[in-house]
Amino acid sequence: ATKYQAMAPVALPDRQWPSRSITRAPRWLSTDLRDGNQALFEPMNGERKMKLFLELVRIGFKEIEVGFPAASQTDFDFVRRLINEDLIPEDVTLMVMTQSREDLIARTVEAVKGAPRAIVHLYNATAPAWRRMVFGMNVTQVMQLITHHVGYLKQLTDARPETQWTLQYSPETFSATELHVSLKACQAAIAAWNAGPGRPIIINLPTTVENATPNVFADQIEWMDRHLSPREHIVLSVHTHNDRGTGVAAAELAVMAGAQRVEGCLFGNGERCGNMDIVTMALNLYTQGVHPQLDFSNITAVARVAEECTGIPIHPRHPYAGDLVFTAFSGSHQDAIKKGFAAQDPNALWEVPYLPIDPADLGRTYDSVIRVNSQSGKGGIAFLLEREHGVVMPRRMQVEFSAVVQRHTDASETEMGATQLWELFQATYLRA
Ligand code: KIV
Ligand code: ZN
Repeated sequence: ATKYQAMAPVALPDRQWPSRSITRAPRWLSTDLRDGNQALFEPMNGERKMKLFLELVRIGFKEIEVGFPAASQTDFDFVRRLINEDLIPEDVTLMVMTQSREDLIARTVEAVKGAPRAIVHLYNATAPAWRRMVFGMNVTQVMQLITHHVGYLKQLTDARPETQWTLQYSPETFSATELHVSLKACQAAIAAWNAGPGRPIIINLPTTVENATPNVFADQIEWMDRHLSPREHIVLSVHTHNDRGTGVAAAELAVMAGAQRVEGCLFGNGERCGNMDIVTMALNLYTQGVHPQLDFSNITAVARVAEECTGIPIHPRHPYAGDLVFTAFSGSHQDAIKKGFAAQDPNALWEVPYLPIDPADLGRTYDSVIRVNSQSGKGGIAFLLEREHGVVMPRRMQVEFSAVVQRHTDASETEMGATQLWELFQATYLRA
């Protein structure tokens, strides 16, 4: 139970706690199979999609955007297979995306025929540059487009009452759109869907291209949260991208500003610099004492599935998941970590210097924590020899032996593991 209180929040000097913090997990939507997939050199085939879908379900995602069935036969067939083979758990809802065009909407509704529940994700761009350059439409025409296409979707879905339908409407390019236009667009969708009890709607506000600091996005979300109506019947969602490297921060601040749901991809896959990284945001919550309701207790296994399905390797310094994130190279860090492990009470809050989370919580071991190279100090060396070979060195011996190790690693320009250290120790003290 203490695992979810991994670190106490840090008090600020002029007040007790931060003015806002996230106190429970948002609703998550994985768009790995849609936004993540559309950004791959080689989009996933049905088999890879299935493997990733099953992993997303296992992790605990309850809403999964599975594709763009009107745009891709692979996606259409994949959605059909999920439904026909009854592969959607009862607590999981599929989402399918469509552009605002009648033929595409009709094909999308066709794709999810027979599903017990479905979210249809309808979007259109609203920002001035897109209105002017891409579509040649004024604001009134954009509003008419929304009213017409949401109305059309309503008509098609009303004719299929065997499915529980939810509309997700996204004003694409929201963060670059005038707020009063975004609001008007969302209200047009809300009205055309006749949202209310029994007619669920998700309003999803994207950064599409991240264009400002995260606090600006959070201010936009807060304003929408205050103005959308009827607010109690709307789920407010955000979908951030990472063009400025702050996709996770923008989503976190957006939740503090009133968003209830967050969309993203595992390890930040997605268009250009990626969608916001759900793994990082979930584990950030975890280290702040909030259970993310997603299972990353074997992060390496999740990483391998994601790498295999997307073909994109995870950076060795990727937060929480990279190969190097539980490795200390510098001697002072190693020394502090060693002391932290020795002092750590298993029933208390996690508090080991330089390790923001217990590697064991992610299914990783301490084995990779200490490695010895020419930058290492005596602490890391002593720690490895004691843990792996039961050698407890007096302090003077630690100082002396670390000089031997340093000469050795300087000369060989390599790192030493516990086995090589033990051999050097024996050669220095036991075989002399
Ligand atoms: O980034 C984006 O705006 C999208 C939408 C269509 C939500 O992926
Ligand atoms: Zn996107």
